[in-house]
Amino acid sequence: MIAITLGTRPEIIKMAPIIRECEQQSIDYYLIHSGQHYSFEMDQTFFDELRLPRPQYNLNAGSGSHAAQTGKIMAGVESLLLENPPEFILVQGDTNTVLAAALAASKLHKPIGHVEAGLRCFDRRLPEEINRVVTDHISDYLFAPTPEAVKNLKNEGIDQNKIHLTGNTIVDAVHQNVQISCRNYDVLEQFGLKSKEFFLVTFHRPENVDSPATLCELLNGLNAIYDEFSMPVVFPMHPRTKKQMTAMGLSPGSIHIIDPVGYLEFLQFEAHARCILTDSGGIQEESCILGVPCVTVRKNTERPETLLVGANILSDCSSGEMVEKTHEMLERKPDWVNPFGDGNAARNIVNILDHSG
Ligand code: UD1
Ligand code: UDP
Repeated sequence: MIAITLGTRPEIIKMAPIIRECEQQSIDYYLIHSGQHYSFEMDQTFFDELRLPRPQYNLNAGSGSHAAQTGKIMAGVESLLLENPPEFILVQGDTNTVLAAALAASKLHKPIGHVEAGLRCFDRRLPEEINRVVTDHISDYLFAPTPEAVKNLKNEGIDQNKIHLTGNTIVDAVHQNVQISCRNYDVLEQFGLKSKEFFLVTFHRPENVDSPATLCELLNGLNAIYDEFSMPVVFPMHPRTKKQMTAMGLSPGSIHIIDPVGYLEFLQFEAHARCILTDSGGIQEESCILGVPCVTVRKNTERPETLLVGANILSDCSSGEMVEKTHEMLERKPDWVNPFGDGNAARNIVNILDHSG
């Protein structure tokens, strides 16, 4: 029996291939949803579109400070693990849900599998970096997506018998859903866009959107991209960013803001975009897999593989640099090789647990 925990948009998307694999192999599992994300377009839409079973448990943790959110999820996970003890607990990524579930499980001596282990941006001011480091050091199965992630774990002295190079389940997710997406949606028609003639943008990191000065600069940068390239800039806006824009009274200018969309629609937006500007972790991976150039507006990235293969570039949020880095990416030929695996990560992970159980 595996307890699969999830709680935010990227965890639902990246755990979906593992849930499917458990179903296919008739492996017993149950789902714990932390409730960290709860708005329909950040949560339920993915269960509907990806045809995932409803979680047996929802902790309804909701939003809050880091400590409040983490504490609520820890207490909830602890009760559930005592009530319905699994053989393993799986966590995915670097959110507060991951940290909380892993901490609760480790105190109960439940073996923890960390999916997407070993990512590092080497900047401890980012909450995700703390979550990654702590989770990796208390996990028993470290499912590292790339050799770079394996190297990071070994450098921190983690026992190499615990480390498994599996690929990233995001490749499975893209392969499984890109065709379904094309059959069911036509976002170009729906939003009046032309393939390879628009920019797709997403921003939600606190360091980019929580300070008025930075968010204002970022919006100016996106407007400068619109002016420079004369192509629509489409921004499916994360609720955190929307909340901050409203509170700060900022205007989008020429940027086309829409609500967050489901995964099938978003995959299409990505595949048809001329270039993606983002601060998302998962979107850096997907753009690399789909062969779409990416400009990551951050000081660092825990996905350096995307920079190394030439699919991605870092930029600060000044208009000048955003425009310059976008020009640079548009000039690159998108012939890089996807470094995140062959689309069998979920099977690799489930097989490892199955043979250990
Ligand atoms: C969280 C993760 C981040 C991940 C992101 C994925 C942490 C520390 N952060 O950031 O690593 O990249 O999810 O999207 O775990 N809100 C809603 N509806 C929702 C969820 C959030 O309106 O369903 C709003 C609330 O105002 C909330 C804010 O967004 O205060 C931030 O939500 P939170 O879960 O704290 O962090 P994210 O920015 O979503
Ligand atoms: N995504 C989506 N709809 C959107 C924006 C993003 O389905 O409107 C998907 C995207 O394809 C990727 C994931 O959400 O798989 C990334 O989530 P997010 O950027 O919120 O988190 P991060 O990856 O940065 O933790």
